[in-house]
Amino acid sequence: MTVKTDNLSANYGNKKVLKNINIDFEKNKITAIIGPSGCGKSTFLKTLNRTLEEYGGKADGDIYLNNVNIMDIPIQELRNKIGMVFQTPVVFPFSIYKNMTYAPIYYGEKNKEKLREIAVKYLKKAGLYEEVKGDLSMQASKLSGGQQQRLVIARCLTVNPEVILLDEPCSALDIKNTANIEKLLLDIKKEYTIIIVTHNLAQAKRIADYVIYMEDGAIIETGTPDEIFNSPVDSRTKEYIMYMKN
Ligand SMILES: Nc1ncnc2c1ncn2[C@@H]1O[C@H](COP(=O)(O)OP(=O)(O)O)[C@@H](O)[C@H]1O
Ligand SMILES: [Mg+2]
Repeated sequence: MTVKTDNLSANYGNKKVLKNINIDFEKNKITAIIGPSGCGKSTFLKTLNRTLEEYGGKADGDIYLNNVNIMDIPIQELRNKIGMVFQTPVVFPFSIYKNMTYAPIYYGEKNKEKLREIAVKYLKKAGLYEEVKGDLSMQASKLSGGQQQRLVIARCLTVNPEVILLDEPCSALDIKNTANIEKLLLDIKKEYTIIIVTHNLAQAKRIADYVIYMEDGAIIETGTPDEIFNSPVDSRTKEYIMYMKN
């Protein structure tokens, strides 16, 4: 699924946070968004599935999913199509199994076999199944932080999203768990459109097909990781990359 914004702006009250964002995201690619803290990265992600409204923000301009304006998509359907994963994993206070079957049951699946199939399928996709298959009835909160983050991603896949937004999903994780998440994203990208905010430039280099540099609510430069990290055109991009290297 492609995502396209047309003159997208956003504000919280009279504070303007995003300014005329025009960008296309390709499907089956990973796009990394980088930029200084407070430049509007999280706000931008929130505009894409209309969660911004819940944080007291308001967006102007248009967003299209496969050329359909998101305002023409029922909001619950939109939020299923565009899954969102945050820095701190929010597992439901139930078992691993119940986390995985919660949405399918909510959407009417009653067949126990089918529910188990769904749980196993997406736990496998998220690279978590082998670690938890011995006890799916364990409380999800007992998993390690890295496992919880993979569970959140697995759970997000159960509603058949087409776009996955991740807001600094590894910033609370150690190197090994970060590597697990990166592997999982590379494994699943052929089926989804992935947009990830990261302050870890090495991570963007390792996994992104495209990189967007944002500053002060605007997109300053976009390109491949090689272009952005090795030969940025804009002096602001250059400065940020130099600063982050030191
Ligand atoms: N709910 C909110 N209400 C008011 N201002 C906010 C809110 N969330 C973020 N902001 C402000 O919007 C700007 C962009 O924030 P954010 O999108 O979180 O940036 P980033 O994710 O790049 O760090 C910042 O100045 C921040 O203080
Ligand atoms: Mg943020």
